[in-house]
Amino acid sequence: MSFTLSHACRLGASRLGLVRPLGAAALRPASTAAYEHILVERRGEGERVTLIQLNRPKSLNALCSPLMSELLEVVHQAEQDPAVGAIVLTGNEKAFAAGADIKEMQDKRFADVYRGSFLAFWGGVAQCTKPVVAAVNGYALGGGCELAMMCDVIYAGEKARFGQPEIALGTIPGAGGTQRLTRAVGKSKAMEMCLTGDMIDAQTAERAGLVSKVLPPGELVDAAVKTADKMASHSKLVVQMCKEAVNAAYEMTLQEGLHFEKRLFHTTFATDDRKEGMTAFVEKRKANFTDS
Ligand code: CAA
Repeated sequence: MSFTLSHACRLGASRLGLVRPLGAAALRPASTAAYEHILVERRGEGERVTLIQLNRPKSLNALCSPLMSELLEVVHQAEQDPAVGAIVLTGNEKAFAAGADIKEMQDKRFADVYRGSFLAFWGGVAQCTKPVVAAVNGYALGGGCELAMMCDVIYAGEKARFGQPEIALGTIPGAGGTQRLTRAVGKSKAMEMCLTGDMIDAQTAERAGLVSKVLPPGELVDAAVKTADKMASHSKLVVQMCKEAVNAAYEMTLQEGLHFEKRLFHTTFATDDRKEGMTAFVEKRKANFTDS
């Protein structure tokens, strides 16, 4: 297993006797010195899941640029670490994230945001090649809803609320809200949410297809970790291909997508893990994937 910053912090935390049982409240900083706005730890079998908790509770986890830089850094580390198979992203019980930081944006001018392509780097979360599961308790508004939608799977706590309230601030969603939300819930509901700024509750979000599971708030993070851990138990190579194929459905025509899928399916036959998976099935044993 490669030695990452989170390992270093975990070791430090162990030495200090800070290792505690599962539960969102038990998250501890990967390094208080390194990260100001997020907490990071490793979970799952063999610590193969990176759990990231957004941690600006006084601002309802408003997504200021330093927070997003830290988040992208850890996502990048997890992506580079061969021991990590999946990522879980969460907030706290009141807020996953209440949006981009309005106080940071308040005095920005057009020239600043346009020239600097403000928020463009957030898209790195959606580019991650490993599965990312969002565990959303409380508010997921504006950029918070957009960040959740950059993840591959969204689980919601029963009191979660989703919305794109930018319209009430005199602006529009700027990190995928008009695009990913429309693809997730359809035009009518996306228009309604974006043009009124109204929130929807977790149950409505599940019915609309925005989230795949609604859970009691206290069970949410563990359930997301369990799902991420299951994803991480499979061949990382093939998981990456599968994610690429599903994501292609957003970008291609049906015929292009079917062709792309077929070619990736064929490509799995070039891997050791495809052979191992099928052999293990026939021999009635657990597959031992080597990510090759
Ligand atoms: N940015 C900065 N600070 C925020 C924030 C945000 N997005 N959301 C909440 N906060 C701050 C509040 O200013 C407040 O700080 P102070 O204690 O210093 O006053 C603190 O968090 C607690 O918030 P409230 O007192 O408002 O809490 P509440 O329980 O009464 O209301 C809420 C909760 C309904 C979520 C309300 O905070 C709210 O409406 N927040 C803004 C939501 C929003 O408009 N998000 C979109 C942002 S724009 C965007 O995201 C653009 C994009 O597409 C990327």
